[in-house]
Amino acid sequence: MKKFIIEKSDALSGKISVQGSKNSVLPLLAATVLIKGKSRLHNCPELSDVRAAVKILESLGCTVERAGDTLTVDASEITGNEIPQELMSEMRSSVMFLGAILGRTGSAVLSAPGGCDIGKRPIDIHISAVSDLSAHTRRECGKLFFAAENGLKGNTVTLAFPSVGATENMILAACTAKGKTVIYNAACEPEIADLVSFLNLAGASVRMYGNGLIEIEGVRQLHGAEYTVMADRIAAGSYLLAAAATGGSLTVNNIFPQHIASLIPVLGKMGCKTEIGDNFVSVSAPKRLKAVSRTGTMPYPGFPTDLQAPLCASLCRAEGDSVVTENIFEARFKHVPELKKLGADITVQGKTAFIKGVPCLCASRLNALDLRGGFALIIAALQAQGTSEIINTEHIDRGYECPEKVLTELGAKIKRVEDYG
Ligand code: EPZ
Repeated sequence: MKKFIIEKSDALSGKISVQGSKNSVLPLLAATVLIKGKSRLHNCPELSDVRAAVKILESLGCTVERAGDTLTVDASEITGNEIPQELMSEMRSSVMFLGAILGRTGSAVLSAPGGCDIGKRPIDIHISAVSDLSAHTRRECGKLFFAAENGLKGNTVTLAFPSVGATENMILAACTAKGKTVIYNAACEPEIADLVSFLNLAGASVRMYGNGLIEIEGVRQLHGAEYTVMADRIAAGSYLLAAAATGGSLTVNNIFPQHIASLIPVLGKMGCKTEIGDNFVSVSAPKRLKAVSRTGTMPYPGFPTDLQAPLCASLCRAEGDSVVTENIFEARFKHVPELKKLGADITVQGKTAFIKGVPCLCASRLNALDLRGGFALIIAALQAQGTSEIINTEHIDRGYECPEKVLTELGAKIKRVEDYG
């Protein structure tokens, strides 16, 4: 097991460039399965979820080489259509290989996906999406078998919810389906735009209108392409909130402000000064943040659910009462009992957390239970008097590349302890 040791830190300050986006590189890696040839992805972060995706590609017969932050995937030969159970349980996003495997081989075998414990995380919308493209599904011995005997056929589909993963699966499956696919109520997160840009570079014909409408003209086959993964907007927002929580100042240098546009006004309500440019966002925080009366997570461009836990942690010491509502996942407050160990005054009722700002937090031994909740514990521990420990940091390593290095450079007192038994 691994842990972080964190002491109360002075105001974080400095400039950073954030890692490549975890939630973009994963669907991009899945997309390489559609390409009978070599693809090259730059700015790929070193994360355990990326390593899991590479293992899935290799289990399908692809070869993958990493040189620095570049991954080269050769999917000339696909020798399988099943994602091994242990890899499916290692990472939730493995479900997004479904569309690409189906599009390439005409069949796929999946077991229940794994990933963060932030809710039931069903895949019914994924299943209905590929079924709408003429794939038949049957469940047997805990596995799902998909097959499109006569190939996938384009269709007009309305998603029950703008699911990010289901939208990505639909796009991947429709790229080489016969005919045109129109998706209504699609998700429009920036990571999906990144996927569409890569696919079109590889010869696909996808148009994303940004209002939940996506149109795909099926093409016969895709060819290899080279692409640079977008910066991780959730990592950027997480570090900006960490700086704000410590009364510090931070510039994130390689981020498109519109990718986290919904965070900027929230930082302003917290009493921070913000500055944005073409590709940077800066925050400068007061010694003590102000409470934010109401924030609710929503699909893009709303406030991202992935920043809900970091926001809660940043508001623990704010002056006044804050209310944060989680509208996307039904069990994404696992960080609250851990924050309360530090002395935070938070009550959760249904999908809403009521946070009463306290003047100070006191160090404790904390348990990371999921990816973003784990980072929230770092933000809280940086504010807590004394020395805190966070165990099970494997969850954090799924989505943040060496957070202890990034934070130390900004003045944080944090160190990683490996294998303490
Ligand atoms: C993606 O997950 C992200 N993961 C998540 O980031 C992110 O929180 C989420 O989108 C929402 O933005 C990756 O991109 C790898 P959804 P995904 O399908 O696709 C329900 C992180 O911390 N739903 O948009 O799984 C679902 O239960 C991770 O980086 C169904 O009911 O999210 C949830 O309540 C966490 N049936 C809601 O929709 C389905 O078939 C949104 O899920 C699919 C989803």
